[in-house]
Amino acid sequence: MFDFLKRKKNGPVITNLPVTTDIHSHILPGIDDGAPDIETALNLVKGIYDLGIRKTVATPHVISDLYRNTPATINAALKQLQDACAVAKIDISISAAAEYMLDDFFLQQLRDSIPLLTINKNIILTEQSYASSTDNLHQIAFEIITAGYRPIMAHPERYHFYHQNYDTYKRLKDMGFLLQVNLLSLTGYYGKPVAKAAKYIIANDLADLVGTDLHHERHLEMLQHKNSLRIFNDLLGSHKYNNLDII
Ligand SMILES: [Fe+2]
Repeated sequence: MFDFLKRKKNGPVITNLPVTTDIHSHILPGIDDGAPDIETALNLVKGIYDLGIRKTVATPHVISDLYRNTPATINAALKQLQDACAVAKIDISISAAAEYMLDDFFLQQLRDSIPLLTINKNIILTEQSYASSTDNLHQIAFEIITAGYRPIMAHPERYHFYHQNYDTYKRLKDMGFLLQVNLLSLTGYYGKPVAKAAKYIIANDLADLVGTDLHHERHLEMLQHKNSLRIFNDLLGSHKYNNLDII
C-alpha cells in the first residue's frame, strides 16, 4: 500500500540480489579463510537470506599447502551449520561442494579417481592462483572433462594475467570451463581492472554463473549496500544466469 514510499526518482529501491541461489561461498565454520566459527557462519547465512538467497552451496577451499579439506571435514562443518540454521529457524537450503585450486593436490585426486565434491551431479568449482596462470590449463581441463566432471572457473575476472587479453575468457569457455563472475567484482570491490573485466565478461554474454564468494562480514556489508544492489540490477537485470538450473 505504501509502495510509493519505496520509490525514488530513479526507480524502485532494490533489496535482493539478482539470484536466489548462490553456488560459491565460504560460510562453513572453521575450515578455510571464510567464517571462523558457527556464530559468524550463522550471521552470514542470515545476511544472504535477507538478500533473497534461498539455496546456497558452500564451497570451502581445497588448496594443497593451505586447506587440505576432505569430504569428511566439509560435511562435518556443513552439518554444524545446517543444525544451527534449523535451531535459528532460517528456511534456507544449504549444501556443500568445494573450491578446488588447480594444483598438484587436485591433479593427484583427479588421477587417482578420488571422488570430488560436486555442486550438482558433476559440476566442480575450480580456481587458479592469483599469482600466475596455471601451466597446461588446456590439458587439465581435458582431464577434468574426461573424468566425467564439468568445471566452473571461479571469478575469471580476478586473474590479472588475463586483463591484457580478454579473448582468453572465450578460450576458457572453449576449453570447457563455465565462467562464474563474483558479484562484488562488478562494484569495484577488488579494484578497477577487475570491475572492467567483470563487466566485459557480462556484457559479452560469457558468464554462465554469478556468485557471492562470501567470506566475511565485510563482503556481506558490500553485497547489502544499496549502490551494490543497484549495480547488480543494472548490469545483470537483462541477462539470465542459471544458478538455479544447475542445482
Ligand atoms: Fe571462493
